[in-house]
Amino acid sequence: MNIVYHENSKVFHLWNDNVSYVMMVLKNGQLGQLYFGKRIHDRENLSDLLELAARPMSSCSFPEDKTFSMEHIKQELPSFGTGDYRSPAVEIRQENGSRISDFQYQSYKIEEGKPKLAGLPAVYTENGQEAATLVIHLLDSVTGIQAELLYTIFAEGGILARSIRYENEGVKAVQIERAMSLCLDLPDCDYEWMQLSGAWARERYVITRKLTMGIQSVGSLRGNSSHQHNPFVAVKRPSATEQQGEVIGFGFIYSGNFLMQAEVDAHDQTRVLVGIHPDTFSWKLEPGDSFQTPEAVMVYTDQGLNDMSQTFHRLYRSRLARGNWREEPRPILINNWEATYFDFTEEKLLKIAIKAKECGVELFVLDDGWFGERGSDHAGLGDWVANEKRLPRGITGIAERIEELGMKFGLWFEPEMVNEDSDLYRMHPDWILSVPERVKSHGRYQYVLDFSRKEVVDFIYEMMAKVLREAKVSYIKWDMNRSITECFSASLPPERQGEVYHRYILGVYELYERLTREFPHVLFESCASGGGRFDAGMLYYAPQGWTSDDTDAVERLKIQYGTSMCYPISSMGSHVSMVPNHQVNRRTPLHTRANAAYFGTFGYELDLNKLTEDEIQQVKEQIVFMKEYRKILQFGTFYRLKSPFEGNETAWMAVSQDKRTAIVGWYRVLNVVNGRFTRLRLQGLDPELCYQNSQNNTLCYGDELMNLGLSTTDETAGELAAGEEACTDFESKIYIFKAQ
Ligand code: DGJ
Repeated sequence: MNIVYHENSKVFHLWNDNVSYVMMVLKNGQLGQLYFGKRIHDRENLSDLLELAARPMSSCSFPEDKTFSMEHIKQELPSFGTGDYRSPAVEIRQENGSRISDFQYQSYKIEEGKPKLAGLPAVYTENGQEAATLVIHLLDSVTGIQAELLYTIFAEGGILARSIRYENEGVKAVQIERAMSLCLDLPDCDYEWMQLSGAWARERYVITRKLTMGIQSVGSLRGNSSHQHNPFVAVKRPSATEQQGEVIGFGFIYSGNFLMQAEVDAHDQTRVLVGIHPDTFSWKLEPGDSFQTPEAVMVYTDQGLNDMSQTFHRLYRSRLARGNWREEPRPILINNWEATYFDFTEEKLLKIAIKAKECGVELFVLDDGWFGERGSDHAGLGDWVANEKRLPRGITGIAERIEELGMKFGLWFEPEMVNEDSDLYRMHPDWILSVPERVKSHGRYQYVLDFSRKEVVDFIYEMMAKVLREAKVSYIKWDMNRSITECFSASLPPERQGEVYHRYILGVYELYERLTREFPHVLFESCASGGGRFDAGMLYYAPQGWTSDDTDAVERLKIQYGTSMCYPISSMGSHVSMVPNHQVNRRTPLHTRANAAYFGTFGYELDLNKLTEDEIQQVKEQIVFMKEYRKILQFGTFYRLKSPFEGNETAWMAVSQDKRTAIVGWYRVLNVVNGRFTRLRLQGLDPELCYQNSQNNTLCYGDELMNLGLSTTDETAGELAAGEEACTDFESKIYIFKAQ
């Protein structure tokens, strides 16, 4: 990768084999944006790319010049009020009430690798050769606020990571009202906007629509990144598909309130903004203080959505996720939540664990209900001490018994919450987020602890660390089961209440950081009523997340397909659960439940004692299969082949690094009588290798499988033949292809 500054034309050019990013210092001293896209040649006069053309009735910066208007110029750090009427990237309120700023270019430096962002998750490098960072300093001389813009380009992939740090070098405090992490001004609007949206139990559905004049956006004001909208969007050319065409993906490495928006102006230019949601944010910056925005990542490709996703997967899997588990195949677990809910004793849990061990399961996870007076969701949160009526020898005791069985032991926490009926609340009623003298809204009968306060984070840390120091705990599921309301901290002055949402999430990150540092062997799985905080910020601390509370195999096709747009397969918690399913009451075959869950971290969420002998045999075979192929499933190259949002069938596949093994998952929701002849064109194989198909032992070259395709035609034509296994709704198959 290269970063060059052309002194004469004042142009910055960052490029690698895939992409170019070009900026220049404008004649008004601000930083203009010239290009982001497929790699172009470097030359001194890339400043020619600056498009200046007079437009009637525009506001202009210089006398006698009708072409230089901030209304139309593409910019790096646009602010409102001096001619640009689009949404700004920064807004700073001065003591006198003015919100205008004028960030002028000062200097730059180039660093090997990538600096850390204080207190925030971010992608990283392991050596200076992997990436280079351009640091640009701008200054608003009236306020003395310096903006330090960071641009990291990686050696591989069309990736650019961006963030901004503001520092008050002036003599007066200011209020930052908006601090977006990224602004990208695209020269046209011929794009479709793709977002991942939904609700609890149907998270991250793919929604695509044409960009058109005006603003379209997604965001969260819930205090977490939310079930409703994910901090990932893409803009794609209308002709782009999974396999080809231009796409730019935007990922935001943050778990709190966010905004991602595209604004198409009157001349068909598009401004994309990504950052902390300004509606619930403001930050007082005293002289000498600094504020760091979270990081945003842009991925450009002209090879379609699959390539964009694979680039995100590689980056997030190996340069965002950290720790011992980063590249380790994930243990096959059994979780007791849907098996028992709150109704368990140690003996009941042990019975589930023994059966699981017999089937080959590696990790037993004790979910909600083990602590304080937690007999239901009305009490106990905040009291992270084992309930001795249920667990006579505490967590240490049950962990020992599980370890004796030859399994690892995992434990559920919901560290950010408290029930009114708890010792913690009785001791510190002022530790929750709430506005004095106003109603306190509950969510699932619980309140949100004020994690903007250090003493609160310290207290929870000590309670959790005690359990982890005493007992053999190998895994933690970190839950968060409500959104924030009445966001007010008793410890902050009035002018700092706008900081609470952000300070809260910094407190969450701080707790994660301390626990992951002290207990590096523990595998963390993030969770927020399933997928309410499934985001890149969480991945920095927890390499996997509970994808959704919806464990139905059919629903999971959509949820996992959408999630795969940005997040690696190794990050998706996916379990086989009971039928009828607890969320949608659907009965899907056991093999289909497993076939969907294989493309994730894989585990069981049921009492295996309730299965028939025949089903137990199937479970044993599933576990043998997963142990053999999990490395490829979780860390191979993933391709989406058929979308559940477009028809009755879904398909995807994972290919090993050496391309000698590929695993295809094919799923059909409803049975079809006398159906069409169907084929699936595979991806990512070696055209020169001959592969054996595990379903029928046929041998085909990679080029045949990728061009003619794999036949998925239903040979029974959907009718039941006597003596044969019934062909049903919710059918699925796993094909393994091995090079000979
Ligand atoms: C919500 C989670 O998503 C579930 O898996 C389970 O852990 C419950 N919370 C427990 O309260």
